[in-house]
Amino acid sequence: MLKNKNIVLGVTGGIAAYKACDLVSRLVKAEANVDVIMTENATKFINPLTFQSLSSNQVIVDMFKEPKYWEIQHIALAKKADLVVVAPATANIIGKIANGIADDMLTTTVMATKAPVVFAPAMNCNMYENPILQSNIERLKALGYRFIEPGEGRLACGDVGIGKMAEPDVIESYINSMFERKKDFVGKTVIVTAGPTREAIDPVRYISNHSTGKMGYSIAYKAVDRGAKVYLISGPTSLKAPEGVQLIPVNSAREMHEKIMEHYDEADIVIMSAAVADYAPAITHQQKVKKSDEKLILELVKNPDILYELGKIKGDKILVGFAMETENLVENAKEKVSKKNLDFIVANDLFTEGAGFGTDTNVVKIIDKQGNVESLPKMAKLDLADLILDRIIKL
Ligand code: CTP
Repeated sequence: MLKNKNIVLGVTGGIAAYKACDLVSRLVKAEANVDVIMTENATKFINPLTFQSLSSNQVIVDMFKEPKYWEIQHIALAKKADLVVVAPATANIIGKIANGIADDMLTTTVMATKAPVVFAPAMNCNMYENPILQSNIERLKALGYRFIEPGEGRLACGDVGIGKMAEPDVIESYINSMFERKKDFVGKTVIVTAGPTREAIDPVRYISNHSTGKMGYSIAYKAVDRGAKVYLISGPTSLKAPEGVQLIPVNSAREMHEKIMEHYDEADIVIMSAAVADYAPAITHQQKVKKSDEKLILELVKNPDILYELGKIKGDKILVGFAMETENLVENAKEKVSKKNLDFIVANDLFTEGAGFGTDTNVVKIIDKQGNVESLPKMAKLDLADLILDRIIKL
């Protein structure tokens, strides 16, 4: 699994740096290519030569010492990396990265990379529990950075508590599982709806909402990645359809309903993350409506409730809804689950920080038809997409 993977290992200044030697040796045995970047403080614990010998690659510490080498390496490593692992990760490195500080080789590489980044924290228990560190961790997690939780026990400083870096074998299997792309949706057809709908008033104007489609596109991306055939039926958004999905662009709720029905028989799973307009203008004017009286009364008629209609013909398909509420979240969401005959609903509160329109994160509760409520912390939409797919697989 790790064969020929390019792993950049960042080693920072903590006593657990000695365990990073074992990690490098394990990764090299698994035929990964490992480039080690050490912080200046890390070199107080371990000599760079140790990592150089273990990895058979030059170890980088000081970004200005060998400018020629660094100039090429600094961005090259960030680009080449399939994964960046920071182990051990001190409170200092976590704090710097969470706050956008890039003042050495490791922090600049982390900042420049597009590869996933994993931290294995190691520090004194009081430092680990410090709310400043915890909020930095939360912040990074919300942006998609991953953490391998430290263990509990007797720490190097003599204190007993949480803060021991995860063992090298645990880190290795975590890394392995990241490369092991789950293919648990092979043979499944998924319809994902996303974005807003637009209900035309005339050729110029429409009624719509603030949905950007990010959540639905994240789900479509992950479902394809996990092997599903995906129809992404999307209202107007500015997003690029993920590679491999069949994008079906629509405007109105009625059009969305029609397109879903065209593929419904084929689908095993329908995930309705679109923000469907409940009403549409009773008349769509063929010409631009001209300004005249002081008041203009727009008559609206109800759109089909697509999910409700799908719920009536559910059969053994899995139906997942979304609900954005501004009050009585759980109560309203539970009602929607039973009324629309859903397997579960993903509900969020518009006013919760990190959960609104257009963000890269979401804070949701998953409510199933048995009434179980699972409250999830703030997480990146892509991670939430994976989690929703995990819940579907469980069913
Ligand atoms: N939905 C739908 N068709 C509609 C309205 C909503 O399929 N006409 C779907 C949404 O895609 C979402 C779920 O139903 O998955 C819940 O949408 P929401 O707008 O929260 O609920 P409504 O039933 O419209 O209720 P209300 O607007 O009164 O909260």
